[in-house]
Amino acid sequence: MEKKRWYKDMVFYQIWPRSFKDGDGDGMGDLHGVFEKLDYIKSLGCDGIWFSPLYPSPGVDCGYDISNYLDIAEEFGGMAAFKKVLDGAHERGMKVIMDLVVNHTSTEHEWFKKSRQRIDPYTDYYIWRPKKSNGRLPNNWDSLFEGKAWAWDDVRQEYYMHLFAIEQADLNMDNPLVREEVKNILKFWLDMGVDGFREDVITFISKPEGLPNDNYMPASKGIFMFNHGPHLHEYLEEFKRDVFDKYDAMILAEAPLVTPKKALEYIDEKNEPVLDMMIQFATQEADSFMTDYIHMPFNLKKLKRTYTKWQTQLDGKGWNMLYIENHDHPRMVSRYGSEKYREESAKMLAVSYLFQKGTPFIYQGQEIGMTNWYPTDPEMYEDVQTRWQYFNVATRKSPEKRLERLWHGSRDSARTPVQWSAEANAGFTTGTPWFYVNENYTEINVADQEGDPDSVLNFYRKAIELRKTLSAVRHGNYTEHFKSSSKVYTYTREDKRQKLLVVCSFTDKAVKMKAPKDFDTSKATLILANYKENTDILKPYEVRVYLLSK
Ligand code: NOJ
Repeated sequence: MEKKRWYKDMVFYQIWPRSFKDGDGDGMGDLHGVFEKLDYIKSLGCDGIWFSPLYPSPGVDCGYDISNYLDIAEEFGGMAAFKKVLDGAHERGMKVIMDLVVNHTSTEHEWFKKSRQRIDPYTDYYIWRPKKSNGRLPNNWDSLFEGKAWAWDDVRQEYYMHLFAIEQADLNMDNPLVREEVKNILKFWLDMGVDGFREDVITFISKPEGLPNDNYMPASKGIFMFNHGPHLHEYLEEFKRDVFDKYDAMILAEAPLVTPKKALEYIDEKNEPVLDMMIQFATQEADSFMTDYIHMPFNLKKLKRTYTKWQTQLDGKGWNMLYIENHDHPRMVSRYGSEKYREESAKMLAVSYLFQKGTPFIYQGQEIGMTNWYPTDPEMYEDVQTRWQYFNVATRKSPEKRLERLWHGSRDSARTPVQWSAEANAGFTTGTPWFYVNENYTEINVADQEGDPDSVLNFYRKAIELRKTLSAVRHGNYTEHFKSSSKVYTYTREDKRQKLLVVCSFTDKAVKMKAPKDFDTSKATLILANYKENTDILKPYEVRVYLLSK
């Protein structure tokens, strides 16, 4: 089937179901709540939804530990509620993509239960290894969430691999039966009318033969061995040939540590691509390596360098997926902006990425400038990765310092319920919320911002509308200017008809407004800004977008 690449004209909204909106009063976000809010999502200018996992799951990793791929969890409303949402989205001209999590399953999945008992055909569905005579683990790889990558199973009397939580067992993708299962899952949802997938850590699915020790990395041992493993391309080709080629579906792949050059091996449009877009971790890795980035001071120059690298190196070859927030990272205002200048910086950050070339994703709550959450007790955290770091990783730091690290780094910082109104529980639920509501909901909420033309919410709407009407944002060339500035990010977008200048101040200090030599702002129209007065000095976190029509 011919690929239409419809996603290039779209803006997606990411729903992390537990915290989006509760529709039945049980305290847990669900699909009834999503159905209520479809018009809201549409009103932002979004035309697609990515659902983080909705499948039955014990919830060890908030749904990324799946126990049945062919159903929707009862707590989210079950299959009937999903079909209603899917139809409702399609009626509004919106696409829906699901999360496909097949690097691992929950240890509660039937396949695992049978595999641990060596019941065929499930015996080799997972990566099992016997105990070594020297008592060592099968290899020295680390789990990204909990200790080493191996857990002992008393039933089978062998170790199984878990690159994430202990209850997330890695599938053996080298087993053709497992790949058949994956294809069945894909077909099941595509036949139901789903429009594509976001594929969870898909670059991890092929492990190198013999599972050799990692003798290079000091931490996260193994990552360069199982990331982009030996058969990854072959397996993705198989999924494409046997499934995706028969549908006009979008495939968005999560790819930790991917470089633009590597990404093009999968997404180059001239080269029979096996994927459409990649979730690269540029914004995060711009600061440092993996999770430690959040403890380093934010460095705009690095961020600009990575943005520009992706914009220029994919240009004309592959398509960028653009995001600045998701369920795995703290809130962007708290990280890259300023809580003191919350509204200003939320607007500036929106423009900083929404006017780049690619398909933008907005994470729930980002559009109202939600901030990090500051619990007083580490026991309040829910996230498996956060809890492991706090309670199991030895450090000499004081408990206060360690708690502070969680505030800035925990995934839970962005997982508190969406703040819909100033009513009880932020209007998220009429019951008892499953998780803590950020106390600032009386000042930051959708209802208040709806009524305020200058709110962050309405700014997002304007920015998205502009993005959709300006041809230069969709097609134009991207050029970065004043690269050495550590305070301002400046770029232009240009096509035959228009030239746009985007100026984003990332500081609370006043800085001089500078336009590139060939862009005369006096001849241009200021089409978007977060301050009413615009002088030759940029105010804290000021953003401006100028348009020159040719
Ligand atoms: C990436 C997902 O985004 C994250 O939330 C999850 O914990 C891991 N993959 C494991 O599935």
